[in-house]
Amino acid sequence: MKPLALPSGWKLFTALAGLTLVMTAVVLASQPDPDSLRSAIRATARSSFALFLLAFLASSLVTLLPGTVSRRILQERRCLGLAFAFSHTVHGLLIYRYAQQFPELFWAGRTLTSSLPGSVGYLFLLLLTVTSFNAPMRLLGGRAWRALHSSGMWLLAAVFCLSFYKRIPMGGWYPLAFALMFSAIVIKLTARLARQQRRNAQALS
Ligand code: HEM
Repeated sequence: MKPLALPSGWKLFTALAGLTLVMTAVVLASQPDPDSLRSAIRATARSSFALFLLAFLASSLVTLLPGTVSRRILQERRCLGLAFAFSHTVHGLLIYRYAQQFPELFWAGRTLTSSLPGSVGYLFLLLLTVTSFNAPMRLLGGRAWRALHSSGMWLLAAVFCLSFYKRIPMGGWYPLAFALMFSAIVIKLTARLARQQRRNAQALS
């Protein structure tokens, strides 16, 4: 039997962006406002989280679990990152609409300070997205590009961690989501250590 040919590159991005839009439309149509908006904000945060995890762990999976699947994820890392940015742009647009239509609900229990980590997260998301294209990438140069993308991904991981951590008392899926993000951080640090040890062993031999 022929293996299933999954889309790659821009086709993969278009498929993931399309899925995000269909999911958002279904969630918005399934309940009346403001619940529909709130559910769609949560749903897009979750689709963003899944895509972010794949992009965040791509190189670590190749180090720790080399194989066809992990290599494929690494090959598609840029696309997965851009699909995450797309999903999170929808998250942002829905938040904007929610804040415009229901300001009293939006600001209940929220301050400018409590919105700061997420807002800084969006600033980095913008920087990472713009510099994911060839011309800005060349303009920035390899070293600065790597520093920006590494620190940006760590910052976004911290924002996801915080977003789930503060919701742990609500129970449901939040403890699991926090554990997933925390484990991803441990996996990334372990892979970094493994690469360092391999380099040291190569230097010695
Ligand atoms: C990179 C930046 C951000 C990340 C990573 C992020 C992530 C998340 C996550 C993980 C959730 C919970 C999803 C769930 O229920 O499973 C969420 C929900 C939400 N976020 Fe964001 N967010 C970001 C930025 C923002 C900003 C700047 C605002 C507003 C100022 C915001 C407003 C909300 C709201 C209103 C909800 C729904 C809360 C609820 O109904 O419980 N987010 N976000």
